[in-house]
Amino acid sequence: MSWMNKHEKLERNSLLLLGFIIVTVLIGGIIEIVPLFRMETVIEPVEGVRPYTPLELAGQNIYVRENCASCHSQHIRPLRDEVVRYGHYSLAAESMYDHPFLWGSKRTGPDLARVGGKYSDEWHTAHMKEPRDLVPESIMPSYGFLLKKSAKLHDIKDHLKTLRRLGVPYNDEMIEWARKDAVAQAVGENRTDISGLQERYGDSVNARDFDGQPDMISEMDALVAYLQVLGTMVDFEAAKNVEGGAE
Ligand code: HEC
Repeated sequence: MSWMNKHEKLERNSLLLLGFIIVTVLIGGIIEIVPLFRMETVIEPVEGVRPYTPLELAGQNIYVRENCASCHSQHIRPLRDEVVRYGHYSLAAESMYDHPFLWGSKRTGPDLARVGGKYSDEWHTAHMKEPRDLVPESIMPSYGFLLKKSAKLHDIKDHLKTLRRLGVPYNDEMIEWARKDAVAQAVGENRTDISGLQERYGDSVNARDFDGQPDMISEMDALVAYLQVLGTMVDFEAAKNVEGGAE
């Protein structure tokens, strides 16, 4: 048969064979990759997941700057021991607004994906200041200096704008009010009006003095606000009741 001869020719000429291999692999690659670019998003949205408030975002920036991710992951894998220890496994949607994502690859300390609400603000502040006061065998560094530095909020508006360009759904109002929302969240509902903040980010937003220094909005305020929201946006109990779903 003639096509057999042709195939023999191909097998004897390694360069020609290489050319055909490349074309074949490319076709496969294109079929797999192109649809991903054409989709609006490949992540299934999940109810409750919202962009970070400006104060939480400032806290995330500190988390990135101090490279907490070098010791802490933010990704609970769907394995029994992880779920028992940390709670529901992480959903893709829960980190869809993280730029950069902070899944991490090393756990010198525990996973932090669901640390929100696990401890009080006082605990976090004291722990961050001197981890060994609370966990005597801890090897985590001390971050007491965060209490003395004011949170960097003067450019937070630009930060929201930049994230919007990356697809995080901040609207004009959120950008306009970014700085004031950050202040309102750290001052708290007892001392200021937080209705605007709640309108923009939901009623369950934590608004209070996080670091025990009511007269200052410190980097500690921002970082604790960030830690306290981690893993708390999705209500897994409610999801369970509605669909019998999400396990
Ligand atoms: C050198 C590694 C290291 C670095 C860097 C580090 N940590 Fe830790 N962290 C640990 C270890 C170890 C523990 C467990 C012992 C303890 O609780 O102190 C821990 C515990 C924690 C806990 C308590 C978690 C829980 O569920 O009990 C939090 C919250 C935390 N770290 C936040 C941070 C933040 C925020 C940063 C960055 C500012 C940071 N860590 C940087 C090692 C580290």
